[in-house]
Amino acid sequence: MNTALTSFFEAHRVLLAPMAGVSDTAFRTLCREKGADLTYTEMVSAKGLSYANEKTRRLLELAEGEQTVAVQLFGHEPEVMAQQAVWIEREMGSSLAYLDINMGCPARKIVSKGDGSKLMETPELAREIIERVVDSVSVPVTCKFRRGYALGEESAVSFAMMAQAAGASAVAVHGRYAMQYYSGSADWDVIAKVKDAVSIPVIGNGDVRCGDDAVALMERTGCDAVMIARAAEGNPWIFADVKAALAKSERPAAPDFRERLDTARRHAALLERRGEKNIVRMRKHAMWYLAGLPHASVARKQLNSCSSLADFDRVFDELRRAIEGEDKQHV
Ligand SMILES: Cc1cc2nc3c(=O)[nH]c(=O)nc-3n(C[C@H](O)[C@H](O)[C@H](O)COP(=O)(O)O)c2cc1C
Repeated sequence: MNTALTSFFEAHRVLLAPMAGVSDTAFRTLCREKGADLTYTEMVSAKGLSYANEKTRRLLELAEGEQTVAVQLFGHEPEVMAQQAVWIEREMGSSLAYLDINMGCPARKIVSKGDGSKLMETPELAREIIERVVDSVSVPVTCKFRRGYALGEESAVSFAMMAQAAGASAVAVHGRYAMQYYSGSADWDVIAKVKDAVSIPVIGNGDVRCGDDAVALMERTGCDAVMIARAAEGNPWIFADVKAALAKSERPAAPDFRERLDTARRHAALLERRGEKNIVRMRKHAMWYLAGLPHASVARKQLNSCSSLADFDRVFDELRRAIEGEDKQHV
């Protein structure tokens, strides 16, 4: 059984993309607080789950107070995908908004196994995976893919039609070829073509960097929701900006350095709470939060050796003092 997601996306138009190594519970918490209507987990290996791998299972954990999340699964074996979809649905119950299947990841270690975007080259297998997963669970199933696999291979429209026929409840389209990785710019026209070709909701993705971009993407393509990845790095405030732009209400002011540092500090505390070595992830997040701040170059060097919450707090404190000192000199 499958449920249409049309009305869901009327109320959830702004989504945080699945991001391996980034969209963990800590980051999702901040993006939700700033206005993301729905967030995705990092991509989760069906194979890893089938081995009851603890690290893989932890990717399914919910953040404190998180009501729902979309889980993204990757793999290429229909049976394993279907079995693990069932397991996820049972474990997560009503906190599972829907299950998304990754058919867009271009990373070498993923495509070399036939997973991710490589499934765009094997649409019959992709169809079987979608059908098997859809038949096995009652939550909606979506899939996320790209403009095509190889450069110039325009397969998004036929792939979307295949996904719809196989039972997908929505599709997310990133307007770059897989083999383009992240270079060049996303082609939004392909998203418009997919929207014209299918009746299920279409999530537009690629190069949304501010509220105006989100409005432009929706107007140009007619997509039902926008998905944001890189522009949210070190910038969860983008969700508030996008929400305001879509609602045509007053846009929030950009965060000042104090707010950026406070949020970075909170992010570090949330990662620390996750235990294990999660705090190390804060190095890259902190680089992103600090980008463009005065005196950030010294701080950036120190971040590489931070390995505890106290280490990060020390860097943030020093940077705050340096910026405040400079501000006073200018009074
Ligand atoms: C660090 C990083 C990790 C990503 N991980 C995933 C992933 O796990 N699954 C997926 O479908 N896409 C993944 N993506 C792709 C994004 O979801 C998104 O499709 C892409 O970045 C284009 O959107 P953007 O222009 O808003 O960044 C990742 C992207 C980045 C930058």
